[in-house]
Amino acid sequence: CSINDGSAFQVASPSSATPELADIDWDNLGFGIIPTDYMYVMKCYLDENFSKGALQRFGNIELNPSAGILNYGQGLFEGLKAYKRHDGNILLFRPEENALRMKMGAERICMPSPSVEQFVEAVKATVLANERWIPPPGKGSLYIRPLLMGSGSVLGVAPAPEYTFLIYVSPVGNYFKEGMAPINLVIETEMHRATPGGTGGVKTIGNYAAVLKAQSAAKAKGYSDVLYLDSVNKRYLEEVSSCNVFIVKGNLITTPATKGTILPGITRKSIIDVARSQGFQVEERHVSVDELLDADEVFCTGTAVVVSPVGSITHLGRRVTYGSDGVGRVSKQLYSALTSLQMGLATDNMGWTVEL
Ligand code: COI
Repeated sequence: CSINDGSAFQVASPSSATPELADIDWDNLGFGIIPTDYMYVMKCYLDENFSKGALQRFGNIELNPSAGILNYGQGLFEGLKAYKRHDGNILLFRPEENALRMKMGAERICMPSPSVEQFVEAVKATVLANERWIPPPGKGSLYIRPLLMGSGSVLGVAPAPEYTFLIYVSPVGNYFKEGMAPINLVIETEMHRATPGGTGGVKTIGNYAAVLKAQSAAKAKGYSDVLYLDSVNKRYLEEVSSCNVFIVKGNLITTPATKGTILPGITRKSIIDVARSQGFQVEERHVSVDELLDADEVFCTGTAVVVSPVGSITHLGRRVTYGSDGVGRVSKQLYSALTSLQMGLATDNMGWTVEL
């Protein structure tokens, strides 16, 4: 993989010495952008294949004002994490799943996408080039943000003529300001995140613009985030602004990611498999608000949020709390099982981790 900033810098190979850690406050990482050293950029024309990707210095990119992404929102993103293990090795978690999901989303909004191999190789190169920004074990992770966008100019509504695949990274800690403490959600009854036949089931950038109004209002009232309902019956759970939702009521139950309105989360899918391997019965089906409010435990899953326990849910002014002293037993057990795999603290019998 080449680096086109004109320097003689070579991407560190797994056997090269670990670079000195970046000089930041590793004990107080949140989920905000910290500029790192390199980003990866690869381009192609519509109806052609991506090629000639390269690392370049992290920084602003140039776009024509008529770029497809700026005018018509033709863009997708992904999110995955790299962890530094105690032996100094770096672990990625199921990067090929992100590549496949990006392909699925690209097909939905008429974009070419990198092959799974190109995606994974680009992720590895970007992580290695930014190794000094990977938090030490136990301090957080390196969040990896692949983007795919219509970067070519277009005026009438149509697929852009040129596409850019870009990856940047940032060291992160906990997503919610509550840290590991349970979050407080409010159910949104007026606005919806997705509609049947729309793009809720793929990771288009527009899905996230659609949640900002309700999310901002909820945060202003002191809630951590918003839980959305389906737009047809207005009674079944869909997901939170940036994550999927599970309830514990006898079995583990999560909302179905097969109808195109709920994002098929990779953490969601992993938690289902981990739970089944630990003897839980897992159901993927509609969950009504009534059932949610009657649950024993509720938690959210996502790359950014990992497994976040929910302490309370407010619906039409009624507040229901879960557990008396914090994190529920099942949430704790599944959080610990999943993160032990991701951080390389447990043997990966699932074959999910990729070591760099
Ligand atoms: C992720 O978990 O990677 C996400 O996509 C959430 C992001 C919107 C912060």
